[in-house]
Amino acid sequence: MSNFYLTTPIYYVNGAPHIGHAYTTIIADAFARYRRQKGDEVFFLTGTDEHGLKIQRAAEDRGISPQQMVDENSARFRELFEQLRLTHDRFIRTTDADHKKTVAEMVARMKASGDIYLDKYEGWYAAADEAYYDESEIADGKAVATGASVEWVEEESYFFKLSKYAEPLLEWYRSNPNAITPSGRRNEVASFVEGGLRDLSISRTTFSWGIPMPEHPEHVLYVWVDALTNYITAVGAFDDTERFEAFWPADIHFIGKDILRFHAVYWPAFLMSAGLELPKQIVAHGWWTNDGIKMSKSLGNVIDAFELAERYDLDVLRYYLLREIPIGNDGNFSDARVVERNNAELADNIGNLVNRTFAMAGKFIGGSVPAPRDITESEDVALRDAAYAARDAIDKAFEDRELHRALEHLMAFSSEVNNYIQRTQPWALNKAGNTERLEQTLYNALESIRWIALLAAPFTPDASRKILAGFGQTTEAHLSFDTLKTWANLPAGTPLEAPGVLFEKLEAPVEEEENSEKSAPQDQKSAKKAKKDEKKVEKSKKSDDSESTGLIEFGDFTKVEIRVGEVLTAEKVEGADKLLKLSANVGEETPRTIVAGIAKSFAPEELVGLRVAMVTNLKPAKLFGIKSEAMILAAKTTDGKLALARYDERVEVGTRIS
Ligand code: MSP
Repeated sequence: MSNFYLTTPIYYVNGAPHIGHAYTTIIADAFARYRRQKGDEVFFLTGTDEHGLKIQRAAEDRGISPQQMVDENSARFRELFEQLRLTHDRFIRTTDADHKKTVAEMVARMKASGDIYLDKYEGWYAAADEAYYDESEIADGKAVATGASVEWVEEESYFFKLSKYAEPLLEWYRSNPNAITPSGRRNEVASFVEGGLRDLSISRTTFSWGIPMPEHPEHVLYVWVDALTNYITAVGAFDDTERFEAFWPADIHFIGKDILRFHAVYWPAFLMSAGLELPKQIVAHGWWTNDGIKMSKSLGNVIDAFELAERYDLDVLRYYLLREIPIGNDGNFSDARVVERNNAELADNIGNLVNRTFAMAGKFIGGSVPAPRDITESEDVALRDAAYAARDAIDKAFEDRELHRALEHLMAFSSEVNNYIQRTQPWALNKAGNTERLEQTLYNALESIRWIALLAAPFTPDASRKILAGFGQTTEAHLSFDTLKTWANLPAGTPLEAPGVLFEKLEAPVEEEENSEKSAPQDQKSAKKAKKDEKKVEKSKKSDDSESTGLIEFGDFTKVEIRVGEVLTAEKVEGADKLLKLSANVGEETPRTIVAGIAKSFAPEELVGLRVAMVTNLKPAKLFGIKSEAMILAAKTTDGKLALARYDERVEVGTRIS
């Protein structure tokens, strides 16, 4: 048994929780549950980030005190996580007393290392991101990476000697290749640091909502110094050394890709300065869009987390979010896809397997678990080996932080068990009076279902518990992976109680009518239209089954990520007369490099500033020694030149095209 410490970001409390907040916390929750089933002592931390200019301004806008606002909004996050039945061990608030104390001590240590000095800050600040930006990162009064408005700041400030840590950081990335995943993110951070680091302004004097700088209370600490330190506060930091040693360094910090720089540059530098160990891993996930469009308050298309939790069974929501996209990718939230995955995977594959097996056991063998017998038949050997392989593959998927793969393997195993039943035909064995073989096949199917329940428990905890309750297994210990070390651990003679419908089939969603609120798929009023749409979905699924039609599933299309990117620079590639080397902002922290075969149709200077469609999730390719990280879409004109798919400024940079 070992200790396992995992964290989510702490969430800003200037607004209501949305799908992004639910997503990170659900990822962490799945890992926490998995590690507990492995027998680890898990500490799972989440919470709220409550200081800073952004919060102070949001409170001013509402005409209430920051304290009142953070109390109200933090409670909303806490409620959400209760409603989602997440299993965090602490919900930390940066306004908690122990946290304020830890931050003061952290800064004192950084100062003792000679890393803090007083100077004057002159530069850009985006309150929405709580981030400083260089001139080169700004265009039209906005941060290029995020679109947040920037303001000019000129004031006395304490600085942290971030520049001193550039080399140690690069060394850390080099010697810990898994410290930042996915690897593309590590490269992104490394090239940012290679570009040189400037010292970081870590205090402000023009607002007051924050933790004061020790010994200089007229300065308020930069909110990221405060926020990042939460990760050590929660495990005892400087107060409870025993606990701190037991849990620090954190095993995984789960974050969104937008806050990578803070976690993979600032945080390790602060820790080095304070003489503390660095986290073992930072896992950066992608962003959810709504119908392909980046969510934003101004567009009013933010998917509310409470609404989601009400609209879907929690297991279904978790399954969808974790199955639909690899952790590092962006994804498009679609009700139609939730319904498809629920119906085809959860209901038809697992739900059906469980129902039919319990029903057969009730009908044919008296409703209790038969005795296991030695495995000799080749189909039994294959089934047991498939169970072992699924267990190992799921372990590996967790190791690789690839939860979607874990679910692929789970589903593949469930299909195997369904096939086993089709092949062994217990109903025929029953008819033929072959009791011995009948009992053996049903034992194997029931044991497989127990394996599925355990392996699925990090993802669909309610369904797993229902299945296990069907075997009379209702304690935490029954979830332990220890019982998956060998086959046939389901005790003979156990009375069986059919768990009932595990996953209700859902009707396909109705297309949204203008100005109408999203309705639950089961909504009575829309049932008629939903039926029609379901048929449409059914129909298209059928035709897609035939390879000869050349049609693809919608899911296949959604795998291709096409975004609007803005060309920032363009130049000829030496020795290649067809190629141009571009850099483009695709809505990420750092621009992508693109090598495009468009030099015959465009002069480099014509391209700068254009917003064009580009595929952003192709595996990078090297052309003339330059790594190309995206592909520009173009069509041939009648005169053999190329025309680009262009967008004007109404479309935000980074918007996904769907
Ligand atoms: N308070 C900081 C984090 C401090 S951690 C020491 C913060 N808060 S946040 O509330 O703005 O964002 C929290 C997380 O939500 C980030 O990881 C961010 O990536 C994630 N998401 C915000 N919008 C998202 C989507 N649309 N999709 C997925 N996750 C997204 O940043």
